[in-house]
Amino acid sequence: MIRLGDSEEDLQRAADLLRRGELVAVPTETVYGLAGVADEPEAVRAIFAAKGRPADHPLIVHLPGIEAMDDWAAEVPETARKLARAFWPGPLTLILPKADRVSDIVTGGQQTVGLRVPGHPVTLRLLKILDRAVAAPSANRFGRISPTAADHVVSEFEGRDSVAAVIDGGPCNVGVESTIVDCSGPYPRVLRPGMISIEQLAGVLGDTPNLAGESEGPRASGRLPSHYAPETKVELVDAEVLVRPDPDAAVLALGDTPDPGGFRAWQSLPEDPKLYARGLYAALRQLDHRGARRILVQRLPEESAWSAIRDRLDRATS
Ligand code: TXA
Ligand code: MG
Repeated sequence: MIRLGDSEEDLQRAADLLRRGELVAVPTETVYGLAGVADEPEAVRAIFAAKGRPADHPLIVHLPGIEAMDDWAAEVPETARKLARAFWPGPLTLILPKADRVSDIVTGGQQTVGLRVPGHPVTLRLLKILDRAVAAPSANRFGRISPTAADHVVSEFEGRDSVAAVIDGGPCNVGVESTIVDCSGPYPRVLRPGMISIEQLAGVLGDTPNLAGESEGPRASGRLPSHYAPETKVELVDAEVLVRPDPDAAVLALGDTPDPGGFRAWQSLPEDPKLYARGLYAALRQLDHRGARRILVQRLPEESAWSAIRDRLDRATS
Protein backbone atom coordinates (compact mmCIF):
# COMPACT_ATOMS: atom_id res chain seq x y z
CA MET A 1 0.00 0.00 0.00
CA ILE A 2 1.45 3.36 -1.05
CA ARG A 3 1.24 6.15 1.50
CA LEU A 4 0.29 9.48 0.03
CA GLY A 5 0.21 12.98 1.48
CA ASP A 6 -1.94 15.98 0.64
CA SER A 7 0.26 17.57 -2.06
CA GLU A 8 -1.33 18.33 -5.42
CA GLU A 9 0.89 15.67 -6.97
CA ASP A 10 -0.16 13.01 -4.48
CA LEU A 11 -3.85 13.79 -4.92
CA GLN A 12 -3.44 13.58 -8.72
CA ARG A 13 -1.83 10.21 -8.22
CA ALA A 14 -4.67 9.04 -5.99
CA ALA A 15 -7.20 10.25 -8.58
CA ASP A 16 -5.34 8.31 -11.31
CA LEU A 17 -5.41 5.14 -9.22
CA LEU A 18 -9.15 5.55 -8.63
CA ARG A 19 -9.81 6.18 -12.33
CA ARG A 20 -8.05 2.90 -13.08
CA GLY A 21 -10.44 1.08 -10.77
CA GLU A 22 -8.05 0.76 -7.80
CA LEU A 23 -9.06 1.32 -4.19
CA VAL A 24 -7.67 4.24 -2.18
CA ALA A 25 -8.24 4.79 1.53
CA VAL A 26 -9.16 8.40 2.20
CA PRO A 27 -9.48 10.54 5.32
CA THR A 28 -12.87 11.94 6.22
CA GLU A 29 -13.84 13.98 9.26
CA THR A 30 -15.55 10.91 10.78
CA VAL A 31 -13.36 7.89 9.99
CA TYR A 32 -11.14 6.80 7.07
CA GLY A 33 -13.06 5.42 4.10
CA LEU A 34 -12.07 2.77 1.56
CA ALA A 35 -12.90 4.49 -1.72
CA GLY A 36 -13.56 3.22 -5.23
CA VAL A 37 -15.21 5.07 -8.12
CA ALA A 38 -18.94 4.64 -7.51
CA ASP A 39 -19.93 3.91 -11.08
CA GLU A 40 -17.19 1.36 -11.75
CA PRO A 41 -18.81 -1.97 -10.80
CA GLU A 42 -15.45 -3.75 -10.59
CA ALA A 43 -14.06 -1.16 -8.18
CA VAL A 44 -17.17 -1.43 -6.03
CA ARG A 45 -16.96 -5.23 -5.99
CA ALA A 46 -13.32 -4.94 -4.95
CA ILE A 47 -14.39 -2.87 -1.91
CA PHE A 48 -16.67 -5.66 -0.68
CA ALA A 49 -13.92 -8.23 -1.27
CA ALA A 50 -11.24 -6.20 0.51
CA LYS A 51 -13.43 -5.70 3.59
CA GLY A 52 -14.94 -9.16 3.65
CA ARG A 53 -18.29 -7.40 3.71
CA PRO A 54 -21.51 -9.25 2.77
CA ALA A 55 -22.89 -8.08 -0.59
CA ASP A 56 -26.23 -7.00 0.89
CA HIS A 57 -24.70 -4.26 3.10
CA PRO A 58 -24.93 -1.05 1.07
CA LEU A 59 -22.13 1.50 0.68
CA ILE A 60 -22.31 5.26 1.13
CA VAL A 61 -21.64 7.33 -2.01
CA HIS A 62 -19.40 10.33 -1.27
CA LEU A 63 -20.10 13.34 -3.46
CA PRO A 64 -17.79 16.24 -4.36
CA GLY A 65 -20.52 18.78 -3.51
CA ILE A 66 -24.18 19.27 -2.65
CA GLU A 67 -25.05 20.01 -6.29
CA ALA A 68 -24.27 16.37 -7.19
CA MET A 69 -27.14 15.19 -4.98
CA ASP A 70 -29.70 15.33 -7.80
CA ASP A 71 -27.47 13.17 -10.03
CA TRP A 72 -27.47 10.32 -7.51
CA ALA A 73 -30.97 10.48 -6.03
CA ALA A 74 -34.13 9.91 -8.09
CA GLU A 75 -35.97 12.37 -5.90
CA VAL A 76 -34.81 14.79 -3.21
CA PRO A 77 -37.54 15.70 -0.72
CA GLU A 78 -37.40 19.15 0.87
CA THR A 79 -36.44 17.65 4.25
CA ALA A 80 -33.32 16.10 2.73
CA ARG A 81 -32.39 19.28 0.93
CA LYS A 82 -32.68 21.26 4.15
CA LEU A 83 -30.49 18.80 6.02
CA ALA A 84 -27.90 18.75 3.24
CA ARG A 85 -27.75 22.54 3.17
CA ALA A 86 -27.37 22.71 6.92
CA PHE A 87 -24.80 19.96 7.46
CA TRP A 88 -22.84 19.25 4.24
CA PRO A 89 -19.92 19.02 3.95
CA GLY A 90 -20.16 17.16 7.24
CA PRO A 91 -20.87 13.98 9.19
CA LEU A 92 -24.39 13.33 7.87
CA THR A 93 -25.52 10.59 5.46
CA LEU A 94 -28.91 10.89 3.77
CA ILE A 95 -30.77 7.84 2.50
CA LEU A 96 -32.75 8.70 -0.63
CA PRO A 97 -34.47 6.88 -3.49
CA LYS A 98 -31.63 5.90 -5.82
CA ALA A 99 -31.14 7.34 -9.30
CA ASP A 100 -30.97 4.84 -12.18
CA ARG A 101 -27.21 5.29 -12.50
CA VAL A 102 -26.62 3.87 -9.01
CA SER A 103 -25.76 0.21 -9.39
CA ASP A 104 -27.32 -2.55 -7.31
CA ILE A 105 -23.83 -3.48 -6.18
CA VAL A 106 -23.48 -0.15 -4.34
CA THR A 107 -26.93 -0.37 -2.74
CA GLY A 108 -26.84 -4.06 -1.92
CA GLY A 109 -29.95 -4.49 -4.08
CA GLN A 110 -32.00 -1.79 -2.31
CA GLN A 111 -33.92 0.94 -4.08
CA THR A 112 -32.31 3.62 -1.92
CA VAL A 113 -28.81 5.09 -1.79
CA GLY A 114 -26.80 6.67 1.04
CA LEU A 115 -25.22 10.01 0.09
CA ARG A 116 -22.83 12.32 1.86
CA VAL A 117 -20.40 15.17 1.17
CA PRO A 118 -17.49 14.52 3.53
CA GLY A 119 -16.12 17.45 5.54
CA HIS A 120 -12.41 16.78 5.14
CA PRO A 121 -10.46 19.32 3.05
CA VAL A 122 -8.06 16.75 1.56
CA THR A 123 -10.78 14.37 0.39
CA LEU A 124 -12.90 17.24 -0.89
CA ARG A 125 -9.91 18.34 -3.01
CA LEU A 126 -9.46 14.77 -4.22
CA LEU A 127 -13.14 14.50 -5.20
CA LYS A 128 -12.94 17.80 -7.09
CA ILE A 129 -9.82 16.62 -8.98
CA LEU A 130 -11.44 13.27 -9.70
CA ASP A 131 -14.76 14.90 -10.59
CA ARG A 132 -16.63 11.67 -9.82
CA ALA A 133 -18.32 10.23 -6.76
CA VAL A 134 -16.72 7.45 -4.74
CA ALA A 135 -18.37 4.65 -2.83
CA ALA A 136 -16.63 4.27 0.52
CA PRO A 137 -17.35 2.22 3.61
CA SER A 138 -15.17 2.63 6.67
CA ALA A 139 -11.67 1.33 5.84
CA ASN A 140 -11.69 -1.63 8.21
CA ARG A 141 -12.36 -5.32 7.85
CA PHE A 142 -16.06 -6.14 8.32
CA GLY A 143 -17.27 -5.85 11.92
CA ARG A 144 -14.07 -4.29 13.24
CA ILE A 145 -13.30 -0.86 14.62
CA SER A 146 -13.28 1.96 12.10
CA PRO A 147 -9.88 3.56 11.43
CA THR A 148 -9.35 7.15 12.55
CA ALA A 149 -5.72 7.48 11.40
CA ALA A 150 -3.73 6.36 8.35
CA ASP A 151 -1.75 3.92 10.50
CA HIS A 152 -4.97 2.15 11.47
CA VAL A 153 -5.78 1.62 7.78
CA VAL A 154 -2.32 0.22 7.16
CA SER A 155 -2.71 -2.23 10.04
CA GLU A 156 -6.14 -3.37 8.73
CA PHE A 157 -4.93 -4.13 5.21
CA GLU A 158 -1.16 -4.65 5.41
CA GLY A 159 0.20 -7.59 3.50
CA ARG A 160 -2.77 -7.56 1.11
CA ASP A 161 -2.64 -5.86 -2.26
CA SER A 162 -6.34 -5.05 -2.37
CA VAL A 163 -5.79 -1.43 -1.30
CA ALA A 164 -3.51 0.54 -3.63
CA ALA A 165 -2.89 3.56 -1.41
CA VAL A 166 -3.84 5.46 1.70
CA ILE A 167 -3.93 9.25 1.84
CA ASP A 168 -2.70 10.45 5.21
CA GLY A 169 -4.94 13.33 6.23
CA GLY A 170 -4.07 13.17 9.92
CA PRO A 171 -6.31 11.96 12.74
CA CYS A 172 -10.08 12.27 12.16
CA ASN A 173 -11.66 15.21 13.86
CA VAL A 174 -15.08 13.71 14.65
CA GLY A 175 -13.98 10.13 15.28
CA VAL A 176 -17.25 8.18 14.98
CA GLU A 177 -19.23 7.42 11.82
CA SER A 178 -21.77 9.81 10.32
CA THR A 179 -25.34 10.21 11.50
CA ILE A 180 -27.55 8.35 9.00
CA VAL A 181 -31.01 9.81 8.29
CA ASP A 182 -33.42 7.91 6.09
CA CYS A 183 -35.33 10.48 4.01
CA SER A 184 -36.83 7.92 1.62
CA GLY A 185 -40.00 7.31 3.65
CA PRO A 186 -42.97 9.43 4.73
CA TYR A 187 -40.95 11.07 7.51
CA PRO A 188 -37.19 11.23 8.27
CA ARG A 189 -35.76 8.66 10.67
CA VAL A 190 -32.32 8.30 12.23
CA LEU A 191 -30.90 4.88 11.31
CA ARG A 192 -27.51 5.40 12.98
CA PRO A 193 -26.81 8.03 15.63
CA GLY A 194 -23.74 10.18 15.09
CA MET A 195 -22.22 13.38 16.43
CA ILE A 196 -24.87 15.42 14.61
CA SER A 197 -27.56 14.91 17.21
CA ILE A 198 -31.29 14.39 16.92
CA GLU A 199 -31.73 17.83 18.53
CA GLN A 200 -29.61 19.44 15.81
CA LEU A 201 -31.57 17.63 13.09
CA ALA A 202 -34.88 18.60 14.67
CA GLY A 203 -33.65 22.19 14.89
CA VAL A 204 -33.28 22.28 11.12
CA LEU A 205 -36.42 20.30 10.29
CA GLY A 206 -38.71 22.05 12.74
CA ASP A 207 -41.38 19.98 14.42
CA THR A 208 -40.73 16.52 13.02
CA PRO A 209 -42.25 13.52 14.77
CA ASN A 210 -40.48 10.25 15.28
CA LEU A 211 -36.96 11.09 14.14
CA ALA A 212 -35.67 8.43 16.47
CA GLY A 213 -38.64 6.12 15.90
CA GLU A 214 -38.15 2.37 15.73
CA SER A 215 -37.57 1.40 12.15
CA GLU A 216 -37.97 -1.88 10.42
CA GLY A 217 -36.44 0.01 7.48
CA PRO A 218 -33.49 -0.73 5.27
CA ARG A 219 -30.51 -2.59 6.53
CA ALA A 220 -27.57 -0.70 8.03
CA SER A 221 -24.69 -2.89 9.09
CA GLY A 222 -23.93 -0.25 11.69
CA ARG A 223 -27.18 -1.41 13.26
CA LEU A 224 -26.16 -5.02 13.68
CA PRO A 225 -26.05 -5.76 17.39
CA SER A 226 -22.39 -6.79 17.20
CA HIS A 227 -20.24 -4.37 15.26
CA TYR A 228 -17.41 -1.88 15.79
CA ALA A 229 -15.77 -4.48 18.00
CA PRO A 230 -12.19 -5.04 19.15
CA GLU A 231 -10.97 -8.67 19.27
CA THR A 232 -10.82 -8.47 23.06
CA LYS A 233 -14.12 -8.77 24.92
CA VAL A 234 -15.47 -5.36 25.97
CA GLU A 235 -17.48 -4.74 29.16
CA LEU A 236 -19.10 -1.54 30.43
CA VAL A 237 -18.44 -0.97 34.13
CA ASP A 238 -19.12 1.62 36.81
CA ALA A 239 -16.28 3.68 38.32
CA GLU A 240 -16.41 1.55 41.51
CA VAL A 241 -15.11 -1.47 39.58
CA LEU A 242 -12.01 0.48 38.57
CA VAL A 243 -10.62 0.68 42.10
CA ARG A 244 -9.88 -3.09 42.13
CA PRO A 245 -6.76 -3.72 40.04
CA ASP A 246 -6.97 -6.67 37.63
CA PRO A 247 -3.85 -7.60 35.66
CA ASP A 248 -6.01 -9.32 33.02
CA ALA A 249 -8.03 -6.21 32.27
CA ALA A 250 -7.25 -3.13 30.17
CA VAL A 251 -9.21 -0.02 31.09
CA LEU A 252 -10.75 2.87 29.21
CA ALA A 253 -11.55 5.36 31.95
CA LEU A 254 -13.61 8.55 31.81
CA GLY A 255 -12.30 11.98 32.83
CA ASP A 256 -10.15 12.10 35.91
CA THR A 257 -11.02 8.69 37.38
CA PRO A 258 -7.70 7.84 39.07
CA ASP A 259 -5.58 4.89 37.91
CA PRO A 260 -5.00 2.73 41.01
CA GLY A 261 -2.18 0.87 39.21
CA GLY A 262 -2.18 -2.87 38.66
CA PHE A 263 -4.31 -3.03 35.50
CA ARG A 264 -2.82 -4.46 32.31
CA ALA A 265 -3.25 -1.07 30.66
CA TRP A 266 -5.00 2.18 31.48
CA GLN A 267 -6.19 4.88 29.13
CA SER A 268 -8.41 7.78 29.87
CA LEU A 269 -10.54 9.99 27.62
CA PRO A 270 -11.92 13.45 28.51
CA GLU A 271 -15.44 13.81 29.90
CA ASP A 272 -16.47 15.83 26.88
CA PRO A 273 -18.37 13.94 24.19
CA LYS A 274 -16.59 15.61 21.25
CA LEU A 275 -13.13 14.90 22.61
CA TYR A 276 -14.12 11.42 23.77
CA ALA A 277 -15.49 10.52 20.33
CA ARG A 278 -12.32 11.82 18.67
CA GLY A 279 -10.12 9.56 20.79
CA LEU A 280 -12.36 6.50 21.17
CA TYR A 281 -11.33 4.19 18.34
CA ALA A 282 -7.60 4.85 18.69
CA ALA A 283 -7.88 4.07 22.41
CA LEU A 284 -9.81 0.83 21.79
CA ARG A 285 -7.27 -0.24 19.18
CA GLN A 286 -4.38 0.32 21.58
CA LEU A 287 -6.09 -1.45 24.46
CA ASP A 288 -6.93 -4.32 22.11
CA HIS A 289 -3.22 -4.95 21.55
CA ARG A 290 -2.22 -5.25 25.18
CA GLY A 291 -2.94 -8.94 25.54
CA ALA A 292 -5.68 -8.35 28.13
CA ARG A 293 -8.57 -10.80 28.56
CA ARG A 294 -11.10 -7.99 28.85
CA ILE A 295 -11.37 -4.29 28.11
CA LEU A 296 -13.31 -2.48 30.83
CA VAL A 297 -14.94 0.71 29.58
CA GLN A 298 -16.20 3.12 32.20
CA ARG A 299 -19.91 3.78 31.76
CA LEU A 300 -20.83 7.10 30.10
CA PRO A 301 -23.23 9.88 31.08
CA GLU A 302 -26.87 9.44 30.03
CA GLU A 303 -27.14 12.80 28.23
CA SER A 304 -28.06 12.73 24.55
CA ALA A 305 -24.73 14.33 23.55
CA TRP A 306 -23.22 10.91 24.33
CA SER A 307 -25.76 8.81 22.44
CA ALA A 308 -23.63 8.06 19.36
CA ILE A 309 -20.73 7.00 21.57
CA ARG A 310 -22.97 4.87 23.80
CA ASP A 311 -24.38 3.24 20.67
CA ARG A 312 -20.92 2.22 19.40
CA LEU A 313 -19.83 0.95 22.80
CA ASP A 314 -23.05 -1.05 23.19
CA ARG A 315 -22.30 -2.74 19.89
CA ALA A 316 -18.67 -3.32 20.84
CA THR A 317 -19.89 -5.19 23.94
CA SER A 318 -22.40 -7.50 22.25
O1 TXA B 1 -18.89 8.37 8.53
C1 TXA B 1 -19.21 7.49 7.73
O2 TXA B 1 -20.39 7.29 7.40
C2 TXA B 1 -18.09 6.64 7.15
C3 TXA B 1 -17.20 7.52 6.28
C4 TXA B 1 -16.13 6.74 5.57
O3 TXA B 1 -18.01 8.22 5.38
N1 TXA B 1 -18.61 5.56 6.38
C5 TXA B 1 -19.20 4.49 6.97
O4 TXA B 1 -19.52 3.52 6.03
O5 TXA B 1 -19.37 4.37 8.16
P1 TXA B 1 -19.94 2.05 6.42
O6 TXA B 1 -20.17 1.37 5.10
O7 TXA B 1 -18.95 1.47 7.32
O8 TXA B 1 -21.32 2.25 7.10
C6 TXA B 1 -22.35 2.79 6.30
C7 TXA B 1 -23.67 2.43 6.85
C8 TXA B 1 -23.87 0.93 6.84
O9 TXA B 1 -24.42 0.57 8.09
C9 TXA B 1 -24.84 0.74 5.70
O10 TXA B 1 -25.64 -0.39 5.86
C10 TXA B 1 -25.63 2.04 5.75
O11 TXA B 1 -24.66 2.98 6.00
N2 TXA B 1 -26.25 2.32 4.47
C11 TXA B 1 -25.67 2.63 3.31
N3 TXA B 1 -26.55 2.74 2.33
C12 TXA B 1 -27.77 2.51 2.88
C13 TXA B 1 -29.11 2.45 2.38
N4 TXA B 1 -29.38 2.65 1.09
N5 TXA B 1 -30.08 2.17 3.26
C14 TXA B 1 -29.81 1.96 4.56
N6 TXA B 1 -28.58 1.98 5.09
C15 TXA B 1 -27.57 2.24 4.26
MG1 MG C 1 -18.17 0.50 8.88
